[in-house]
Amino acid sequence: MWLWILAARAEPTAPPVVDEMHQRYGALTSSRDAVIDGDLAKAKTYAATLLDLGSDTALPNDWRPYVARVNTAAQKLNDAPDLVGAALAVANVAAACAECHDALNGGPKLDHRDAVPPQKWSEGQNMPLHKWSADWLWLGLLANDDASWNRGAAELDKMPLVPRFEGAPPNGMRELEQGVYVIAGRARTVDDPAERTELYGQLLATCSQCHTQHRNAAPAPAAAPAPAQEKKE
Ligand code: HEC
Ligand code: HEC
Repeated sequence: MWLWILAARAEPTAPPVVDEMHQRYGALTSSRDAVIDGDLAKAKTYAATLLDLGSDTALPNDWRPYVARVNTAAQKLNDAPDLVGAALAVANVAAACAECHDALNGGPKLDHRDAVPPQKWSEGQNMPLHKWSADWLWLGLLANDDASWNRGAAELDKMPLVPRFEGAPPNGMRELEQGVYVIAGRARTVDDPAERTELYGQLLATCSQCHTQHRNAAPAPAAAPAPAQEKKE
């Protein structure tokens, strides 16, 4: 859904770059989605792909430090002990990607972002709309693009969703839902890439925690066992 915005501009500078970037984008975004879903093991499988990239390409020397930074961040994702660690690591990989995009004035240009209409917020669409906002923030982070970041933050912050969990939600889910909006509100006020990275990590961790709790709570509402996914394998 998102790659078409990026692919809509194709003016390759160096031969292997665009292809490899799409590969990275795919791997990192899949890892992020696994974190959102609360699947630590799956999130880590994509770290391996990211660690490997760049090794077989004739990279210009001045690109190497940036690739090294991506690799270091991907290693942390690979070693993350739990979902909170993985959430922050995913955000840090994206920040490392953005550093190179900034430095080389490369990266996704997002010229077509304004062609994407605002999303309609409607009842029952909570989760797709959370995802939609998280995707704009994601592009904002990767491309260091203020308009995309602010759009994601604003769409998440401005539109208080109909609370999905009526009455007393299990396991503090209402608090987690509120946490999402607190983060979105803060996201609208920061423009420092490091602060944005931190907030995005917190956002992913919040999505992830609620999904994990929901899943654990579903079969047996009695005593919820410690989430098995959070153990290091
Ligand atoms: C060594 C520098 C460098 C690093 C590190 C880097 N990129 Fe890029 N990226 C570029 C350059 C340069 C371009 C522009 C390529 C072009 O237009 O030919 C680009 C373009 C892109 C594009 C747009 C491709 C298109 O369709 O125009 C995406 C998406 C992307 N990068 C994602 C990533 C992700 C995700 C990471 C981190 C996992 C990453 N990049 C790390 C330099 C880098
Ligand atoms: C308050 C708890 C809670 C929070 C916080 C939360 N979710 Fe969810 N999410 C759920 C539940 C429960 C489901 C299971 C399916 C359902 O009932 O909609 C779900 C399912 C999903 C799905 C699967 C598609 C669907 O419609 O079922 C996606 C995608 C998703 N969430 C994205 C996100 C993102 C992105 C965030 C963070 C920005 C987030 N969620 C935060 C509770 C939450």
